[in-house]
Amino acid sequence: MQKQQRYLIEKLKKENRLSEAEYEELIAHRDDETAEMLAEAATVRRKKIFGDAVYMRGLIEISSICKNNCYYCGIRKDNRFAERYRLTKEEIISCAEEGYELGFRTFVLQGGEDPYFSDDVLCDIVSELKNGHPDCAVTLSMGERTPESYRALFDAGAERYLLRHETADARHYAMLHPAEMSFENRMNCLKELRETGYQVGCGFMVGSPGQTPATLAKDLTFLQEFKPEMCGIGPFVPHRNTPFGNEKQGSLELTLLLLSVIRVMLPEVLLPATTALGTIHPQGREKGIMAGANVLMPNLSPLYVRKKYELYDNKICTGEESAQCRGCLEARMNSIGCRLTVDRGDSPVFLKNGKL
Ligand code: 5AD
Ligand code: FES
Repeated sequence: MQKQQRYLIEKLKKENRLSEAEYEELIAHRDDETAEMLAEAATVRRKKIFGDAVYMRGLIEISSICKNNCYYCGIRKDNRFAERYRLTKEEIISCAEEGYELGFRTFVLQGGEDPYFSDDVLCDIVSELKNGHPDCAVTLSMGERTPESYRALFDAGAERYLLRHETADARHYAMLHPAEMSFENRMNCLKELRETGYQVGCGFMVGSPGQTPATLAKDLTFLQEFKPEMCGIGPFVPHRNTPFGNEKQGSLELTLLLLSVIRVMLPEVLLPATTALGTIHPQGREKGIMAGANVLMPNLSPLYVRKKYELYDNKICTGEESAQCRGCLEARMNSIGCRLTVDRGDSPVFLKNGKL
């Protein structure tokens, strides 16, 4: 093994952090042994903190309508081929009911930035979900909103919020988004969410156009400073009807390596093996867990909308019943010596600090 790679990994293990230049070097000069050594260190940490538990979150995709035009995303406003839908409150509640029966205790409401979901509409849904199931956690993933909105939703009972930062490099951010969207606003939203009291998730795609070891090193340094409670990372997968339709897909190998680095850096972070990872390889999610991930987010959306929430091509599990996905994941996790866990799975950091 390269001496310098071993040195960097040992340093990361000992200090839980590297400098930006060191992250860049670790990524630029990685090889199979680097990945192996990092995965081993990541697994030791995952097991020490979470044992054999893998948490599951039920994902409900509540709207495919979006006012934004991110160049990578299949539900961007200008994709006129995208099929648009919006779930009613009754549909959302009934998805959650079905999930509850299957053992889910966290529901993630995700959607495009759809103006229909005003604070009043969304707060009403969140409080009804919480009233019906006080033992469940509600996570929102509804994009950029105002500080007042984040506050109102928190007061209505939402405890967690996922908002990927997408890239921590302002110039790279501008390559992925049109001029109306700003890196600064994205970062401010994350800060607001944190200050409001949410368990916060950020994250990024691996292999997005324009990404380099240098931009990834910025992502890792950002994570190291921000210390999110959750971190969603998955490969970029091109969608045919977007400006990035002909770009290259992100790599499995690099995604797994980054999952390992993040687990070593933030041992207590909740780290999903994403659906995008399961899409680029049949055992992608199992490999993700073995690299350090500890969360799965199967789809609970009604079957008739699943194909319509198409962020990227060939997304998996768009035709399966929720119960089938649950059973499938259980078998997949057992095959790698893990156990699907039904409790809320709050951030260990929040639990320790008495914030819950
Ligand atoms: N490939 C992979 N992930 C994507 N996302 C959006 N489009 C794609 C794509 N083409 C991710 C973004 C967003 C999250 C909801 O899905 O990172 O934040
Ligand atoms: Fe959906 Fe396997 S997780 S069928």
